[in-house]
Amino acid sequence: MKHSRYLNAAKQQNNERPPIWLMRQAGRYLPEYKKVRQHYTFTEMISNPEIVTEITLQPIKRFGFDAAILYSDILVVPNSFGLHFDFIEKKGPTLKESNDIPFLKDSFSKPYDLSTCQFVFDSVKLLKQELPQYEIPLIGFAGCPFTVACYIIEGHSSKTFPRVMNMIKHDSKTLHSILDALTKATIDYLIGQIKAGVDAIQLFDTWACLLESENYINFTYRYIEQICQALIPYNIPITLFSKNTKAYINQQTELPINVIGVDAFMSLQDARKIVGTTLSLQGNLNPELLLGDKDTLKKEVSHILTTMKDDSGFIFNLGHGILPTTPIENVELVVDMVKNA
Ligand code: CP3
Repeated sequence: MKHSRYLNAAKQQNNERPPIWLMRQAGRYLPEYKKVRQHYTFTEMISNPEIVTEITLQPIKRFGFDAAILYSDILVVPNSFGLHFDFIEKKGPTLKESNDIPFLKDSFSKPYDLSTCQFVFDSVKLLKQELPQYEIPLIGFAGCPFTVACYIIEGHSSKTFPRVMNMIKHDSKTLHSILDALTKATIDYLIGQIKAGVDAIQLFDTWACLLESENYINFTYRYIEQICQALIPYNIPITLFSKNTKAYINQQTELPINVIGVDAFMSLQDARKIVGTTLSLQGNLNPELLLGDKDTLKKEVSHILTTMKDDSGFIFNLGHGILPTTPIENVELVVDMVKNA
């Protein structure tokens, strides 16, 4: 794997065309995914190392991406506190247990048990046996404690997470105790993935976008910092992705990370100006463009490729996860353009 474009770009050492992979590249836009998914629930699939391996490799076989990302979910870590999510069609993740604050307080005051996530580590090990023939790295991941806490406290998906926002105002002590416990478990969970063989880590902080300046620092940034610090001895590239990049990128450059994921609402050029030459950038094609006409799509991909031409620390990706209604041929078009850049 010495010649992985992805790993080189994460270290700002890529002198060839940029690597490409897409967030949510294994998923419902793929007919071969839907075929397997018919027979199992999402939870059954991510809990089975053979299925995880098959699904993780599906987009690699079809498109030849430059990195694989473990097929799993950010809502696995709560299992270690006895909290479980059902993934319900159209409704999204739903907590099976109570989200009463006293119950949650109690759950997070007990020691966590990462053996409940063993299937993730077993999946990584199995994937690492299969991956050498593709000569690409495996990206492991976790959700940032704040984003994971949002789903636990709310109990389900939301656009505004009112229970969490209320806790920030009226019970920040309990919120911090939950975030603290989740941070410790996430560190051990990521170390488990690294020991099992992942080559890089991506942290997802989708719901950081609910937080402004001081709250951003207090409720998410400082926990992310703890996670990144704890991973330094493992010497593995770390990417941080959150929505509303523009608001946080200045702060994020101070973290011991390697790559910042840029959303579609900030230009890569502006991001490069802010981070200077110290960090790599990943992004940022708007996933909606993959649903529209090919001319607009081509224009935007060209624009990104021109902007980042000769940038040794650039990883081509989307500004957020690929949408389930994405036509395969548009993904092919994008991969083709990047590979011929
Ligand atoms: O990028 C990848 O392909 C790796 C696997 C991955 C999934 N989810 C698979 C998944 C990763 C890294 C995630 C991250 C994740 N999960 C986030 C953060 C990033 C983001 O996209 O916002 C969040 C907030 C979640 C929580 C989650 N999981 C939600 C809100 C949903 C339901 C909405 C949806 O897209 O279906 C899930 C389910 C989920 N996670 C699916 C997949 C492929 C769909 C499963 C299915 O129905 O087959």
